[in-house]
Amino acid sequence: MIFISYTFIVLTLISHAIAGDPYSLPNMTYKTDIGYYYNMPVRIYGLYAYNTNSAPAISPFNPIYVFLRGAGDDTTNVLQPSVVDFIPGDDGYSDLKRVTIVTGVTDSSGTIKSYDDLKKLGNKVRTIESDIYVNLPVVGFSAKLEFPSDGPEMFGYYKGVQFRYFNFGINPAGNATAPIYHVYAKNGTQIAAIPGTIPGLSNYSGIWNIYNLTVTDVTVPITSYNQIANLEKVFSGIVSNCPVSTTTLTGFSGPNSKKRSRK
Ligand SMILES: *[C@@H]1O[C@H](CO)[C@@H](O)[C@H](O)[C@H]1NC(C)=O
Ligand SMILES: *[C@@H]1O[C@H](CO)[C@@H](O)[C@H](O)[C@H]1NC(C)=O
Ligand SMILES: *[C@@H]1O[C@H](CO)[C@@H](O)[C@H](O)[C@H]1NC(C)=O
Ligand SMILES: *[C@@H]1O[C@H](CO)[C@@H](O)[C@H](O)[C@H]1NC(C)=O
Ligand SMILES: *[C@@H]1O[C@H](CO)[C@@H](O)[C@H](O)[C@H]1NC(C)=O
Repeated sequence: MIFISYTFIVLTLISHAIAGDPYSLPNMTYKTDIGYYYNMPVRIYGLYAYNTNSAPAISPFNPIYVFLRGAGDDTTNVLQPSVVDFIPGDDGYSDLKRVTIVTGVTDSSGTIKSYDDLKKLGNKVRTIESDIYVNLPVVGFSAKLEFPSDGPEMFGYYKGVQFRYFNFGINPAGNATAPIYHVYAKNGTQIAAIPGTIPGLSNYSGIWNIYNLTVTDVTVPITSYNQIANLEKVFSGIVSNCPVSTTTLTGFSGPNSKKRSRK
């Protein structure tokens, strides 16, 4: 029989005591934990989490102002670093951001370092809310990822100062959440994590509604949703940004996929 060892995601429920100080954000190294998607092991980070009574279908999100020459330009070809008005510690903060395109800034506008700077430009600039949602956790200046290529480090501006974020890229499911199942033994020990989707699928979202469930038979490792499909699942009260690492994915796409990485 196979024994799987777990050191489970320590969710970072960030205290809202100190609002808006990029220097107060923890400089931790975000490690992954193993989960299983239809028997395929996947590595899952644990980033920003918050409590809520019911599981939201749509994740909260904040705007990120992206400065482009023209509305149709490549969103990576920016004129200056992007601006946000929310970081962890601010009420309503979310790692998920809606790309809001700003056009019309010129050299004479100077560097825009805050939402207030942007507002001062009034109708000299145009802002366009896109349908692109990106997973950009704002983190401490020395925070690291276990696999750095999962989320390249970038800087932006917030209320006149720099902040740092990991760029996990476009959230394929847009503003939608996805389910992840935390499986517990009867004694309350977590024995498995089963994400409902993985990167590469159109329903993949890094923002998860966490559901708890308990299994009575712990002799069989839980590595597939098929094993828990009929069990009762209770929303845990936690929504969390837990991106699945793409560095270790093998291209498997689901229960009907021909390519099975593991029996
Ligand atoms: C994190 O590291 C940066 C330097 O990279 C430092 O300025 C900041 O104070 C540190 N944050 C905490 C909470 O220690
Ligand atoms: C979520 O995204 C969809 C598709 O872009 C959009 O129609 C909807 O208005 C968004 N929901 C919210 C609450 O913004
Ligand atoms: C709880 O049950 C799990 C699964 O049988 C076992 O691995 C773990 O050691 C148990 N923990 C405690 C504290 O009894
Ligand atoms: C996501 O899409 C895949 C492939 O279509 C499907 O197998 C899986 O059940 C979907 N996940 C959820 C949570 O709906
Ligand atoms: C889900 O599990 C977590 C971790 O054990 C626990 O804190 C929480 O109370 C559980 N939620 C429910 C609704 O059982």
